[in-house]
Amino acid sequence: DAAEKGGYEHFMLKEMYEQPKAITDTFSPRLKGSEIVIDELNMTDEEIQAIRKIMIVACGSAYHAGVTGKYVFEGMARIPVEVDLASEFRYRDPIMEEGTLVIVISQSGETADSLAALRESKERGAKVLGIVNVVGSSIAREADNVMYTWAGPEIAVATTKAYSSQLIALYLLAIKFGKVKGVVSKEQVYSYIEDLKRLPEQVEMLLNNKVKIQKFANRYLAAHEVFFIGRGIDYAISMEGSLKLKEISYIHSEAYAAGELKHGTISLIEEGTLVAAVLTQKELYKKMISNMVEVSTRGAFVLAVTNEGNDEVERAADYVIYIPETNKFFANSLAIIPLQLFSYYISVGRGCDVDKPRNLAKSVTVE
Ligand code: AGP
Repeated sequence: DAAEKGGYEHFMLKEMYEQPKAITDTFSPRLKGSEIVIDELNMTDEEIQAIRKIMIVACGSAYHAGVTGKYVFEGMARIPVEVDLASEFRYRDPIMEEGTLVIVISQSGETADSLAALRESKERGAKVLGIVNVVGSSIAREADNVMYTWAGPEIAVATTKAYSSQLIALYLLAIKFGKVKGVVSKEQVYSYIEDLKRLPEQVEMLLNNKVKIQKFANRYLAAHEVFFIGRGIDYAISMEGSLKLKEISYIHSEAYAAGELKHGTISLIEEGTLVAAVLTQKELYKKMISNMVEVSTRGAFVLAVTNEGNDEVERAADYVIYIPETNKFFANSLAIIPLQLFSYYISVGRGCDVDKPRNLAKSVTVE
């Protein structure tokens, strides 16, 4: 066991440290010079141009990757996207018109609800693309096409490197679709590729900043409740940050679209409540800062995760973690790193079973 952990205390920590490699291994086979080539898509340019709608279906963290995917596909490739929890999808009688592409995301490729959603989609005549980590798994075998995330085996129940690779697969698809549809220029593709190539090193840098986050986490070991807030893509990151925390530390946490706070949740904020605010989208800085002020004036302690250079945030935050610059669509890949580390150190500090949290299984094969 110790040997398999390669000197790390837990599989989760090891896997977090494998993220730069998982990211590289997922994008590099699909970069051909200044172009993105996804052979396994098996779709002609005409077929890609005919995509009218994408439906992303998944569970847990894979669902959160899908929520980020919605913002990326819509913002970058201008294709409308619906994201569904696989366990809900079948029961809402989904409308799949001609030109609907279903994307099922799954690390294990064995999640029962995701597999059922895949079968349902095929029965309804949709084309299904699987984004899967485990080679030869059920979802990989049954999908019309499969795009593997090359994260390697993931042991810790809390996903880190598989989630990060899922994001990369979604970015690659969005760039590719956007280019074929003529809404992403050659120059933009080039610049996205440059940003992709920088991500592994940037993730590494954030991981190496772990002591700062560990110190901060140690102050919050006794927290009863944590709120994660963000807008747009940052809301998607908040959901993943919140799930990471609750699954391995057993601290209750919730993710809220920051603008929704005042519609109910803000009543829960009291002296000392920890609020983690994610702000990577420049056009939303002002709105986010005003939400942070709203909670801090009610006594919350505000941790902010934001881009380098956003010094303005310091007037509304008690503690700030800066992430390096990338384009707005890829910021999720960086902002999630401090949140993973935060959950990890809280879990370790509270003496929880980091790799095998109570009541959870790595792969959920019951519906
Ligand atoms: C994430 O940390 C979870 N353990 C869980 O939400 C997981 O992402 C979900 O069960 C989906 O699993 P899959 O990717 O293997 O389908």
